[in-house]
Amino acid sequence: MYRIGRLGVGSPLTRKQWVRHLQQLSSPELRSRFVQYFEKHGHTPVKSASLIPHNDKTLLFTNAGMVPFKEYFLKPGTAPYKSATSVQKCMRAGGKHNDLDNVGYTPRHHTFFEMLGNFSFGGYSKEDAIRLAWRFLVQELELPVDRLRVTVLDTDEVGYALWKKQGLPDEKIVRCGAEDNFWSMGDGEGPCGSCTEIFWDTQDPSLSEEDRWLEIWNLVFMEKYRTADNKLTDLPVSCIDTGMGLERMASVLQGKKNNFQTDQFLHLIQGIRENLQNRNIPVMLSEDPSAHEKIIADHFRAMCFLISDGVVPSNVGRGYVLRRIIRRALRSAKQLGINEPFLTGLYPYLLQGFNDGSYPELTERGASICNIVQNEEAAFLTTLDRGLALLNNVFAQPNLQHTKQIPPQIAFQLYDTFGFPFDLTLNIALEKGWTVDMKAVEELKEKQRQMGKESWKSDSALDKGRFAEWRNKNILSRFTGYDRTLLDQESQIVAVDIHKKGKKTLVTMAIDPCPFYGLGGGQVPDSGSVTLSNGQEWHVVDVLQPYEGGLVLSVAPSDPKRNIEKSFEEDREFLQSGSLIRAKVDLDKREGAEVHHTATHMLNAGLRSILKTDIVQAGSMVEPKKLRFDFTYGKPLTTEQLQAIENWVNQITITGGETNVKMMSLTDAVSSGAIAAFSEKYGETVRVIEVPGVSRELCGGTHVDDIRRLYPFKILSETSVAAGTRRIEAVAGLSCVEWYRKAYEPVPDLLKLLRASDTKDGVAKLDKTLQQTKALQKRLETLTEKLARAGETVVHPVEAQINDVPVRIHIVDADLDIPFMQKRARVLKESQGEWAHVLVNKNTIMVALDPSQVQTETANSILKHMLRHIKGGGGGQKDFAQGKLAIPITSVQDIENSLVPALTAQ
Ligand code: SER
Repeated sequence: MYRIGRLGVGSPLTRKQWVRHLQQLSSPELRSRFVQYFEKHGHTPVKSASLIPHNDKTLLFTNAGMVPFKEYFLKPGTAPYKSATSVQKCMRAGGKHNDLDNVGYTPRHHTFFEMLGNFSFGGYSKEDAIRLAWRFLVQELELPVDRLRVTVLDTDEVGYALWKKQGLPDEKIVRCGAEDNFWSMGDGEGPCGSCTEIFWDTQDPSLSEEDRWLEIWNLVFMEKYRTADNKLTDLPVSCIDTGMGLERMASVLQGKKNNFQTDQFLHLIQGIRENLQNRNIPVMLSEDPSAHEKIIADHFRAMCFLISDGVVPSNVGRGYVLRRIIRRALRSAKQLGINEPFLTGLYPYLLQGFNDGSYPELTERGASICNIVQNEEAAFLTTLDRGLALLNNVFAQPNLQHTKQIPPQIAFQLYDTFGFPFDLTLNIALEKGWTVDMKAVEELKEKQRQMGKESWKSDSALDKGRFAEWRNKNILSRFTGYDRTLLDQESQIVAVDIHKKGKKTLVTMAIDPCPFYGLGGGQVPDSGSVTLSNGQEWHVVDVLQPYEGGLVLSVAPSDPKRNIEKSFEEDREFLQSGSLIRAKVDLDKREGAEVHHTATHMLNAGLRSILKTDIVQAGSMVEPKKLRFDFTYGKPLTTEQLQAIENWVNQITITGGETNVKMMSLTDAVSSGAIAAFSEKYGETVRVIEVPGVSRELCGGTHVDDIRRLYPFKILSETSVAAGTRRIEAVAGLSCVEWYRKAYEPVPDLLKLLRASDTKDGVAKLDKTLQQTKALQKRLETLTEKLARAGETVVHPVEAQINDVPVRIHIVDADLDIPFMQKRARVLKESQGEWAHVLVNKNTIMVALDPSQVQTETANSILKHMLRHIKGGGGGQKDFAQGKLAIPITSVQDIENSLVPALTAQ
């Protein structure tokens, strides 16, 4: 192990000496030194959790090392270890901790970064935490004490005293307010506590006294819990949560001015520069990368890690953050002069920065990651130029120079039509010294959303917070629904609630045991019934799992005539915690869902087999009557490919075969080749569904016993849902038979109508008929044109006058339609231009004249004049006007009785 000379108070080093001593401590070395140190001091090393926080629906991303341990702070007894250490992947690009806008413009901000941390769930004290951290810095890393100082919360006398005990003099312990030294996860509910922070003196003369000090480690004394209504309560035991940004610490240890100059970014920056050189773009070779190089490097790391954890670009929630990050990177690339897709060329450089094997997902999922990035790049580059041109136009507009504000409609158009995330528009504006009125943009967005045009919405607003109390009270429902013999069983209510959601009244309950499936994984929840001991039946409308081990049923009276609130009161005595009930799952629906769930696995395997590539599942929906499967693939599938997949599934399922359910360790499952969805969270022991020799997938859903039940299988559609993501909808088993029946039902009638012997003959006949119709339409068109030109129709026109303009009023044959009348009107004004012409056909009236010959009236003025004296409406132009009369005109008599007087009236 590389060791440097022992340093401490009294041995200050010059910057040069410092760099010489420490520059060899690489980031991978830092990772392992940290974990080894804490392991040596009794901590269990824990692998980084996913960037998608599976245990916390209030967060968009894992944004601190403590997130995966949140439950253990609340219930330390459930933690499998008393203290732990980790290097956690973190993302700060949404919610309270959002650094997206700072990236590139400051030395230290990142969207994706790694957090080194040590945690105690009642295992050790505040004093231990301070001692462990201090020793790690000054003994293990041998940082000189004279370049360190700490802050404590101004009311934390204990913390202050503990630092003094470590030998820190008063001038090195700074007291700060709660805004600096009280840490919480977000603005809402969660564990929190006072903290002490350790700072490093960068000795950078270009920085102010304040900025010279770099925060390197935050030790949080997790002792409190903030409730949803903002009250602080005590956690059951005092816990410790510390976090040290790996990139920052690396910059200290490598003597670099900022994180982007450390080994973690070196390769990526080199990759970007090589890319520029290959395109003959002049490259600035300064040690400090430019803002755009920093943005690309940071965002590239973020996008790859996000995709490797199963996030795919979309217009919603996490997927939208990913899309924004990719688009911002592309705009920065454009600023550097790169106009083509290039990001995936950086992938080998990214891997060089993580070659210690700490994130195997980067190599395992490399092909999929690049595939997704490339598709997204191609999609955005088609509109980026057009959007930028629009913005440049705005910057050049003289009437905007005094406000230098981008009109909100433009920001919205850029977002809606050109795919510019709002923050990208804002960034470009800020670079030019312009602004965007984000409030006005938000209002516009809201208006659009209400009009139903807007698709952006957050996917983190699940109404699960309601059940936090049930979780805290440890209300658990054992799921028994994998066992088919228990789908109709005795059970007991363990919690009930009635509440209003908007105008709706909801009754929810937890029962134990619970045969109703509601565990997610794309499979729709079971429905069924709960019968109370007074005989009243309540329908199970929905099932959800708001927390680990908790299943909540949403119920309503089965009798639609019974009012929910009244029924709740009437059945109250039998509808409370402790009441016995009979729980019955709707078998038809459950079996349908099982068929389609196993069929989804078969489709997943079939796609891989036929497309010969590793696709990534991007979502799925398993319903009783059909399935939907989203996956990443760059182009539409051909009809041949779809047929081949369909055949593949049908050939395997027709011969039948049992499915197996196995519980095994995650490592065994993955090494046996089981497919795992990146975005799912798996425990140490996982459930694997196997169709022997065909498919093996990690899955918590319910499945058929024998795949024969999936036959027949039919793909109904294959469409695009987002750039690089395809969607297949399919049906299997009885639903498929039903689908074929419905599709075939009208065919005999169709054949009879077409006088066809079979469907093939039918298609030929229909084709011929359609061609004949087209030809007939054409002929009809010619004939009516001829007819319109063929002089007077049967009835002679009635002649009249309006303000010296001679008028001819014609009755058009009742069999002829409006387009004919219009043609006739045109012919009349062209051939008899000295007259104004009125044409009537029952309720339709038209006026036509040649304005070059009739100048004192227009077609519109004549029609309007008549309509002042007879009932109807309409209008038009100088040469032509059209209207509708309330009373039809069918004879010359009618004309003389109503139209002529209307025309001549004053
Ligand atoms: N949770 C604290 C932070 O994120 C310490 O890990 O800073």
